[in-house]
Amino acid sequence: TRTRVAIIGAGPAGLLLAHLLHLEGIDSVLVERQSASYVQARIRAGILEASTVDLLKQAGVGTRLAAESMEHRGIYLQWPGERHHLDFVKLAGRSVSVYGQTEVTKDLMRAREEAGGQAFYEASEVELHDVGTDRPSVTFVDSDGRPQRLEAEVIAGCDGFHGPSRGAIPDAVRDTWEREYPFAWLGVLAEVAPSTDELIYAWHPDGFAMHSMRSPRVSRFYLQVRPDEDIAEWSDDRVWTALTTRLEAGEPGWRLETGRITEKSVLPMRSFVTTPMRHGRLFLAGDAAHIVPPTGAKGLNLAVADVALLARALTAWLSGGSTELAESYSDTALRRVWRCTHFSWWMTTMLHRHGDDFDAQLQLSQLRRTVTAEAAATELAENYAGLPIGYQ
Ligand code: FAD
Ligand code: DHB
Repeated sequence: TRTRVAIIGAGPAGLLLAHLLHLEGIDSVLVERQSASYVQARIRAGILEASTVDLLKQAGVGTRLAAESMEHRGIYLQWPGERHHLDFVKLAGRSVSVYGQTEVTKDLMRAREEAGGQAFYEASEVELHDVGTDRPSVTFVDSDGRPQRLEAEVIAGCDGFHGPSRGAIPDAVRDTWEREYPFAWLGVLAEVAPSTDELIYAWHPDGFAMHSMRSPRVSRFYLQVRPDEDIAEWSDDRVWTALTTRLEAGEPGWRLETGRITEKSVLPMRSFVTTPMRHGRLFLAGDAAHIVPPTGAKGLNLAVADVALLARALTAWLSGGSTELAESYSDTALRRVWRCTHFSWWMTTMLHRHGDDFDAQLQLSQLRRTVTAEAAATELAENYAGLPIGYQ
């Protein structure tokens, strides 16, 4: 098979790239390891920056988003005895929206079907070839067990942290930066109305906790746990007890409602950046090139920002013959990547228990400053609500 752009991975990055290229009349083929229903059901991110929302709406995939998402003006930050609201709209002129990654994925898959675009799900043995030449290709075995070869002008590696694309850039030209954190998150989805109007990020001596949500009837929670935590040791009762202790500490009299837990998983936490994001005719976007710890809700938004940039660069190249944006793609994308990497590291470091009591006092001092000094609050608000798509 021949196509203009071979896209590896049908997560948010790959699906959005396929859609944006389609709007520009550029043909692509998606190759995904999992089934479509598996990808749709994977519970991950839940917060969209204003510029992510705008982009999805402008691209014609924002109808259900406009109807069903919940717009939030800001977040609560708390520690024992104190809960404070940060109003991003006042501080930074932008809001954020609650809309699950599962829903973004469904909307993008539907757009792909309506456009009649080609996609191979349940592909195995996916390999990239000749990315440093003018004739790159991807080989794989399709869901019927038939070997396939996809020839393309360009390959987009949107295959997440564990996909093969990053490894197709030779070690000699590749650099990586990495930080492992000495804790993880236990994520919980529950059938219970949120006990809060906006997200609560909680510092607590027992460890970080967060109250998020997916809809007026579904809440999402996270608890700081050990990186090697055995999920079998976390009964539903133990989860609710820990969440209640950590979340109720912020405001006397406030109560956490509990309900039926429908999903529970442990998420590792790391920061990871690889450069360059382009080699020859291979371009990386999203988690294939970088991972941020989830505190600050940047992962999905960063993938969308990469893709917005990449779609423009590929359109200019493949439709207009201009390679300038393709040449600058990696450098431009990495400026935002490092800003979000710093912000996510900073939020993570400020809110999780680690180190000793001296570290705890520094964290509490930083939290106090963030809610009392407008300059500090504005810095958090601008980063959380998101930099403009064209941020350089
Ligand atoms: P992905 O969504 O990972 O998509 C990559 C796709 O490539 C996948 O569908 C995968 O199946 C496919 N693939 C992998 N290998 C191959 C192969 N060999 N061949 C073909 N296809 C392949 N961010 C937040 O902001 N908040 C959160 O709460 C949050 N929670 C998360 C929880 C988990 C468990 C994980 C892993 C991530 C979480 N993130 C969160 C991050 C966010 O979900 C990601 O940043 C986002 O999914 C990035 O999109 P992507 O398309 O780049 O990568
Ligand atoms: C969610 C995840 C995050 O990492 C975050 O900072 C806020 C919300 C969520 O899954 O809802």
